[in-house]
Amino acid sequence: ADSFDEECDYLFKAVLTGDSGVGKSNLLSRFARAEFRLDSKPTIGVEFAYRNIKVADKLIKTQIWDTAGQERFRAITSSYYRGALGALLVYDITRAATFENVKKWLRELRDFGNSDMVIVLVGNKSDLNHSREVEEEEGRRLAESEDLFFMETSAMDNVNVEEAFLEMVRRIH
Ligand code: GTP
Ligand code: MG
Repeated sequence: ADSFDEECDYLFKAVLTGDSGVGKSNLLSRFARAEFRLDSKPTIGVEFAYRNIKVADKLIKTQIWDTAGQERFRAITSSYYRGALGALLVYDITRAATFENVKKWLRELRDFGNSDMVIVLVGNKSDLNHSREVEEEEGRRLAESEDLFFMETSAMDNVNVEEAFLEMVRRIH
């Protein structure tokens, strides 16, 4: 390891994927910098952030790649799945179409990523319960049938964000 990583016991690469507008960039900014923006712009290509996480006395440096959900970036973003040990596959609980697309994203992760990648299915925007289109139970059932972990989150209210990322890192570890 170079000096930058000297104090870390492990370096993990993880990716965020899912339809445009589901809240991937805000989940990452919430997790990495404690920030949330109502007016965030769609991601162009990919961006990344780091956060060090302590798990069972080991310091784990997590490099998280935030990919664009827009269709026109698909060819670029899938190339970033290689080498990733973990993924958060995100949908928006207020837009059923984003949940229906989960299977498509899952196929991409499995085609281009590591075969033993730890995947957490994330239903984001749980603060918008009044306009919910996907029941929590539906998310849980899909996760079970596809062998994924599951969590509903709110990047806005900071609910379960830390837990979703930590769950992924713990399972990799
Ligand atoms: P792409 O980069 O295009 O793939 O989109 P994205 O998945 O990164 O979505 P982004 O994080 O940019 O969020 C899209 C919109 O949803 C923004 O207006 C956010 O403020 C909003 N948003 C994100 N998370 C939440 C949440 O938990 N609750 C609510 N109410 N809004 C959210
Ligand atoms: Mg984004």
